[in-house]
Amino acid sequence: MCGIIAYTGKQTASTVLLQGLKQLEYRGYDSAGISVLSRGKLRTWKAAGKLEALLHLLPTKISGKSGIGHTRWATHGAPSDLNAHPHSVTVSLPDDQNRSNNPESTVTISLVHNGIIENSEQLLQQLQDQQLQPQSETDSEILALTIASIKSQQSVSLLEACRLALLQVHGTYGIAAMEPDSSDIILARNGSPVIIGIGEGEMFAASDASALSRHTREVTHLEDGELACLTPDGYQVQSLNAQPSIKTAITLDVQSINHQLGDYAHFMHKEILEQPATIARTLSGRLDHRFNTSHLGGLNLDARELLDIKRIKLLGCGSAYYAAQSGADMIESLARIPGDAEPAAEFRYRNPLIERDTLYIVVSQSGETYDTLAAAREIKRKGGKLLGIVNSVGSTIAREVDGGVYMHAGPEVSVASTKAYSSMLVVFALLALQLARIRDLSPQQGAHIVQALEDLPQLIEETLAQEEMIKTVAASYADVSSAFFVGRTSAYPIALEGAQKLKEISYIHAEAYPASELKHGPLALISPTTPTLVVLPDNDLLEKSLSALEEIKARQGPLIALTNSPDKRIPKLADHVLKAPQCHPILHPMVMAIPLQLFAYHCALALGRDVDQPRNLAKSVTVE
Ligand code: G6P
Repeated sequence: MCGIIAYTGKQTASTVLLQGLKQLEYRGYDSAGISVLSRGKLRTWKAAGKLEALLHLLPTKISGKSGIGHTRWATHGAPSDLNAHPHSVTVSLPDDQNRSNNPESTVTISLVHNGIIENSEQLLQQLQDQQLQPQSETDSEILALTIASIKSQQSVSLLEACRLALLQVHGTYGIAAMEPDSSDIILARNGSPVIIGIGEGEMFAASDASALSRHTREVTHLEDGELACLTPDGYQVQSLNAQPSIKTAITLDVQSINHQLGDYAHFMHKEILEQPATIARTLSGRLDHRFNTSHLGGLNLDARELLDIKRIKLLGCGSAYYAAQSGADMIESLARIPGDAEPAAEFRYRNPLIERDTLYIVVSQSGETYDTLAAAREIKRKGGKLLGIVNSVGSTIAREVDGGVYMHAGPEVSVASTKAYSSMLVVFALLALQLARIRDLSPQQGAHIVQALEDLPQLIEETLAQEEMIKTVAASYADVSSAFFVGRTSAYPIALEGAQKLKEISYIHAEAYPASELKHGPLALISPTTPTLVVLPDNDLLEKSLSALEEIKARQGPLIALTNSPDKRIPKLADHVLKAPQCHPILHPMVMAIPLQLFAYHCALALGRDVDQPRNLAKSVTVE
């Protein structure tokens, strides 16, 4: 969420910044801007809208070898030119300051900020007491003014002014700041990622490693409560208490972070079609034919510790939370360990009981979602056993958990999660298998699951082959204004994710219910213009689920059945059938996700939506 890029060195800064912003645009795309140090002056350009709008505004040539850039996802203040970052502010020196020692009578700084300043009202009051008034509606400009005001009053360096200002701040931030006449870039982090890229005679910083990978593979992550000063020749890091920090550089695996659209129209389409390969990568080296189980080496828990687990709690946000609901179901049904999933943000704020024999698992594609990270920290603080299931290698959550599993799905760029979601499900299936084989799942049953998982990439391939048919069905429903998605027990989280995909990218109102709940309320809304998509896996509950179809049909509601059952009554009852292959029940969420992803994608395409960058959303939500 919000992309930050900074550069100081020997290249034309604007080129580096704009390339970086292009890579970061998926993190937030309602406005963008850059500040460049040009002949000792800070020059700032910013515009509401996508990066294109900024590019139209820029002169053909911008000289200058250091600068900062930002692509925004609005929190405080609507997307507008004025609210866009960088915030360049100028504060006059106090009258009583000895101006003979200060040839410049003003202090100017430029700042980009990712996060939320929670006590911005209080900081604004202090500024107003000094007759300082922000121009924009943002908390970020209040922070910029606070820094500039401290710098002007105390005649300190920009680094020190940032440090003193941040000591007053409550909230989350990743910042990059600069001032005229200096090529130094000041960085700081609390809750929002900032990564330093180390070059030869040049230094970079970004909120996401993908923006650095074309320039350098050597990086170091700022930790919460750290500030840094970048010069072209190096960097220094210190804590908010002004204690120097010793940092170790790591080498990026560029393959795992680079993303290119190639010949595809959208990243979402590319990522949907990649799933046979991404699922194969998630499985790779983790299935054990000898003991008919799986091995997740990164758990850092031996068999005895795994046997001691009495309960599993899964936490995530958005699609990760829906995947976690399916994961809890897999673990409970296969390993017979009580499992449940909860939205990470809600968990954190209800003063949760942390139990010694419960295993807590946070799930996140980006590894940076603030609510999930905060839940992880709360669990750690209370002494809980904490694992992470994460896609982004080296992300904050991956670094903070006690152990875990990487999904290896590769970078996911489209805001709507597809391949990361299916890889989360695969990791849950592997975990459920490992836990179950330590308990009472027989070797024969284990062997069936190992084989089923090995066959999964091929099953996904077969499901994807139905794209043309799904596209036709989607086109016939794209003009509805509301849709229901229903399923029973294990099919309910699948319905939740299906509704999520549709609403995220097509803006069609979509809601999911357990099919059994229809009659307790939602049925009132069923009409000939409100379709219902029923998720009907081939299982014991099929008979019961068919009665939901009957109830909807009796109210003239259009029906789409998503099923892998050969039951002949389904095509008679439903107006359209989306087919998934028959498979072991543990694979139902994976194979059924595919038609739902394609259905949402083609509805959104038919409506001419911006599929990869849907309105109001962002890929990685690093604020509360
Ligand atoms: C955002 C994205 C969702 C995603 C959620 C959790 O809201 O728009 O697509 O599911 O964050 O993201 P995570 O990176 O933690 O999986």
